[in-house]
Amino acid sequence: IKNGSVRDPRFRNSSGRCKKVLNLIDIEQFNGNFPEFTRPKNVGSFSLDSHRKYVNDYSELRYFSMPPETSTSGSCKVNFDLRRGISTVIEKDEESIKQKMLDYLLRWILQERKAENKNIIDHQHPLRPLLIEFVCYRGLLTLLIGTPYECQKNWTILATKFQNSIYLWQLRGKNQNDTTAVQKETSAWGFKFEQYLCASSPDASPDPDEQLNTNAEFCCVLKTRIGGLPLLYGAEVDAVTKESQPPFFDLKNFVELKTNKHIENDRQMAAFKRFKSMKWWAQSFIVGIPKIVVGYRDDNGIVSRLETMDVNQLRKQSTDCWQSNICMNFCLQFLKFVKESIPKDATSNDHFLFEFDAMSRVVSFRNEMGETNSNRNLLPSWYIESMQK
Ligand code: A3P
Ligand code: MG
Ligand code: MG
Repeated sequence: IKNGSVRDPRFRNSSGRCKKVLNLIDIEQFNGNFPEFTRPKNVGSFSLDSHRKYVNDYSELRYFSMPPETSTSGSCKVNFDLRRGISTVIEKDEESIKQKMLDYLLRWILQERKAENKNIIDHQHPLRPLLIEFVCYRGLLTLLIGTPYECQKNWTILATKFQNSIYLWQLRGKNQNDTTAVQKETSAWGFKFEQYLCASSPDASPDPDEQLNTNAEFCCVLKTRIGGLPLLYGAEVDAVTKESQPPFFDLKNFVELKTNKHIENDRQMAAFKRFKSMKWWAQSFIVGIPKIVVGYRDDNGIVSRLETMDVNQLRKQSTDCWQSNICMNFCLQFLKFVKESIPKDATSNDHFLFEFDAMSRVVSFRNEMGETNSNRNLLPSWYIESMQK
């Protein structure tokens, strides 16, 4: 299958016309030079409080400090029980989060438009549109970056065009109620780990006895260019080192926190390199976070060792499993594919779907122009109306 229009009937749409596809059957096609990627600039931030209410401040920013007994190798012995207080955890309601779509980020954009943020707004134009080609969340970019090596999970991305920008959102199906109690608990462990290492102010200490509420988060808004295409994206970030103070012009003083089962043999190391290291690299690289602090745990949720990993080193030591240039070239090709596929006359009422099928290894494009959709538009009317003023 070649990229572009194909004759294969699987890729025809209902009217019998050829559907456009982007194929990933041979990922060597993406094995060119690493694409142009400008250092992500932090253009703003916001907090979501424990009720997921948007707040224009640093209230949910957390400060990280490494426990004192760190050895020269960057490794350190600890004893964190991730089950501590687990029965009282307040977990976020994923369904209600899906309903909000890009709303928090859109709200930030409107706020900055009022404040005349010259980084992102075209002040010469009477409509004052964004100087941005793509608006999305960081998780969507991490998903795209990992797609060349994804063999199991399909994805669907919803796109809509408004003024000069394309807004992207990953559609997730309804959560089948098959998340087991164990899965729920281990998902909370990651947040408990953050609580052991992060404090709410630079001179406070972490408090693992405080009730955990995973709704609260601090989000940075970043701007970068991939292959010349300007991107604006929101990213939930774990913590900044306590020696740093806002405002932040980039995320070089932020850290990503991760838990992982102990890696004790070659087989476990191979599995880590094959399935995890690329996702960890992508998530931090795309926002310019240089360090990941890993807590190694056992099956009972006891973290006994911390290790600081260099994000760049993570990439270098995994070249036998995945290549970052292939990841980033695919990401760029996908963004170009989206740009080419959406008709010039599309409006914010039109939806376009991009579907990755992990089995056949193609991304196909579905034009939903003029089709009524039960979901509300990706962009709410309050955003559209305000941007048209
Ligand atoms: P771990 O990564 O330590 O397991 P993030 O690492 O991106 O900051 O996310 C924080 C935590 O949210 C994760 O910690 C994990 O506990 C939970 N989490 C993130 N993505 C998840 C997913 N897809 N399914 C279940 N839990 C997830
Ligand atoms: Mg996080
Ligand atoms: Mg984390």
